[in-house]
Amino acid sequence: MDATERASGDRPLSVEALARALGSVLDGPGFVPGTEAGDRHRRDWGGHTGAPLAVLRPATPDAVAATLRVLAGLGHPVVPQGGMTGLVKGGLPVDGEIVLSLERLTAIEAIDADAQTARVQAGVPLQALQEAAEAEDLFFPVDIGARGSAAIGGMISTNAGGNRVLRYGMMRASVLGLEVVLADGTVVSRLNGLVKDNAGYDLKHLFIGAEGTLGVVTRAVLQLQPRPSSRATALVSVGTFGEVVVLLRACRRGLGPMLGSFEAMWPGYWRLVTRDLGLGRDPFDGRGGILVLVEALGFGPVAAEPALETVLGETLAALPGADAVLARSIADADDFWRLRDAASEAARAIAPYLAFDVSLPLAAMGGWVEAIEPALRARGLRRVQVYGHLGDGNLHLTVGDLPADPAFAAAIEDLAAETVGARGGSISAEHGIGRSKKRHLGLCRSEAEIALMRRLKAAVDPGWILSPGRVFDRSEAP
Ligand code: LAC
Ligand code: ZN
Repeated sequence: MDATERASGDRPLSVEALARALGSVLDGPGFVPGTEAGDRHRRDWGGHTGAPLAVLRPATPDAVAATLRVLAGLGHPVVPQGGMTGLVKGGLPVDGEIVLSLERLTAIEAIDADAQTARVQAGVPLQALQEAAEAEDLFFPVDIGARGSAAIGGMISTNAGGNRVLRYGMMRASVLGLEVVLADGTVVSRLNGLVKDNAGYDLKHLFIGAEGTLGVVTRAVLQLQPRPSSRATALVSVGTFGEVVVLLRACRRGLGPMLGSFEAMWPGYWRLVTRDLGLGRDPFDGRGGILVLVEALGFGPVAAEPALETVLGETLAALPGADAVLARSIADADDFWRLRDAASEAARAIAPYLAFDVSLPLAAMGGWVEAIEPALRARGLRRVQVYGHLGDGNLHLTVGDLPADPAFAAAIEDLAAETVGARGGSISAEHGIGRSKKRHLGLCRSEAEIALMRRLKAAVDPGWILSPGRVFDRSEAP
């Protein structure tokens, strides 16, 4: 539907003129003409593509600031890019936009084991940070399936969620300090890593989750956590959504702060990843119901496995038809997680698809799934996957084998958004709005809220050059 979209700046800009303007700011590898840009900068994990005017790859935070100072003078749209694992076209260039990639900012600058903090540059992949923390006997708790590619700067800009939100919160909860470059090249830096600092506005929160529309994250100070001394993982099969809720309550009550993850997968998703894609063994041999992946974290002398075993033993005794398999080794646990982490692969297997990322009150969630599946089937859509971070009230819905009819796709988007809006939910739990979900922002944000977002955008980036058209479109009156 964006096929005709094209970036337009104040004045036409050629790639040669851009290269000249940036000549003294970027080194050789720092400037890639759009025609030579690789897929890495032209395609996101949602499978969408775009053709940038050029890809700029500054090597340092200072070079990012110098680059933006030059770009501000040119008035041409620019989109910051992290690991490109987003699904809503936030980091994907509109044809003709300038890409500002943070991929060369890969330094883990410092880990302070006493304060339990890490100071990192924006291009550090999540997994690299997790491993660096573990090497210091610490733990970076935010975890997403795209951990090998997703970059910290992008995860901050999108306020990434993932697999342990119910225990440790979304990305926002782990950010102690931020360095951001504004559209005019101003560097706004607060990297002292203080836990408590009420000296005026807490500006970092303006940029966390702003999807690159307000500034470019170059560095962050992140809160690390004590490393769990043990982990236990179980795969539980239950028959109904009501039983999932019973299990969730039991895990919360029985495990308290040891409950790290509570992820659910409905049978359509499970069959696809185990049987069709062959990504792992189904311990229930196709007879399972809704599958729940529960992870418990143990600290000090309190071991995770007996705690989880006790909770599951008690709960399953009260749920006839439910069954559970406890991972007996790290390899077992990895096998379970591989099936949950395979979400992107699963979506690609049923392309062309539409992907939804919704938040719902727990009381409305089961009813929504029971309503949406038949509604999709009635429209001829049978390849439907439902899975997600159930403990956070967040489900992902992927609808595959989509007919090549934009009006039909729009009607399905409306159906999903309206049924979620009507139940008091949100159309974006964790993936953001980007360019894909703008049409439905008004279903879960008021006019006053959207107007305030626009005023902030106009105040911070008056030329509207940073990630324009993400979250909302430019309106004449700010
Ligand atoms: C997941 C991504 C799609 O939860 O958010 O797998
Ligand atoms: Zn998710």
